[in-house]
Amino acid sequence: MIRTEKLTKKFGTDRGVFEIDLDVPKGCIYGFVGHNGAGKTTAIKILCGLLRPDSGKAFIGDYEVTPKNIPLIKKSVGYMPDITGVYDQMSVWEFLDFYGAAFKIPPQKRKERIESVLELTNASAMIDYQVSSLSRGMRQKIGLAKTLIHDPDVLILDEPAGGLDPNARIEMRRTIAGLKGLGKTILLSSHILPELASVCDRVGIINKGRLLAQGTVQEIGERLQENLTILVTVDSDTRRALEVISGLEHVQDAVIADVNHISLSYTGSRELAGRLLDSILAAGVKVRWFEENEANLENVFINITSASGGKAE
Ligand SMILES: Nc1ncnc2c1ncn2[C@@H]1O[C@H](COP(=O)(O)OP(=O)(O)O)[C@@H](O)[C@H]1O
Ligand SMILES: [Mg+2]
Repeated sequence: MIRTEKLTKKFGTDRGVFEIDLDVPKGCIYGFVGHNGAGKTTAIKILCGLLRPDSGKAFIGDYEVTPKNIPLIKKSVGYMPDITGVYDQMSVWEFLDFYGAAFKIPPQKRKERIESVLELTNASAMIDYQVSSLSRGMRQKIGLAKTLIHDPDVLILDEPAGGLDPNARIEMRRTIAGLKGLGKTILLSSHILPELASVCDRVGIINKGRLLAQGTVQEIGERLQENLTILVTVDSDTRRALEVISGLEHVQDAVIADVNHISLSYTGSRELAGRLLDSILAAGVKVRWFEENEANLENVFINITSASGGKAE
């Protein structure tokens, strides 16, 4: 339903997105994850027709995103930007009515739609509030309500939980899960992975403009389980420890994950993994902690992105 083929947009030489192939099946919630500056907003803007790619293609349903198809794209896509521009001087009702009118929804139908989208976003009580009086969490709800006003099949939400407190995040997740129940196809971005793990069917991990992994949450989890991921916390010089550890048998992709943490992929059997600690100690590295990483999405994300050189900025 949402697809890109070798989508590329460069800002200078090393910023932007590079040959991205996104694939979001109909009816799916797709989590687009990456650190700040990874290229999520750039890809999203291209999908919504707000930015032209340098090369490659983007599709929404059967339509390629081209200037000629923009009216069709606008009809089928609800786009919520990372910063929702809500007009402070209006009431919530006026704001939604304004957008409804922009989508040429007739006045009678508009009233119905406004009531319906406020119900979906759990914001009915706010209908007469002045937009300027709303908290960040309330604004996000109204921003999402606006995105739904023309009942689009596809929702593209850029960091919908950005800047929200934990309770508001949970509520936003619930709302999004509810929208899936209405048959919508949803792409949402976040730089916080655990936020997405519980609500998404599929995930795409982007780092420095490149899509590093894509698949169901389970597939991506299994990718990690093929090799055992081990986290070693060292007391001594981390760089030297990395050198030593990298040279040991069955050790692959050892990287400094954090100041004194080394993450590595162990290709030997699980039974042998215990001996790895002995070898590290025998090599004179002071180890404070040694643990097998659970194969959860957050670890996959840390491993995949650190193997490709860490954060973009
Ligand atoms: N209009 C622009 N001009 C120059 N650089 C840009 C522009 N838009 C984005 N970038 C750069 O491209 C990279 C990706 O940005 P963005 O897509 O906003 O990342 P994300 O949404 O994942 O945080 C960043 O390094 C950003 O600074
Ligand atoms: Mg962004």
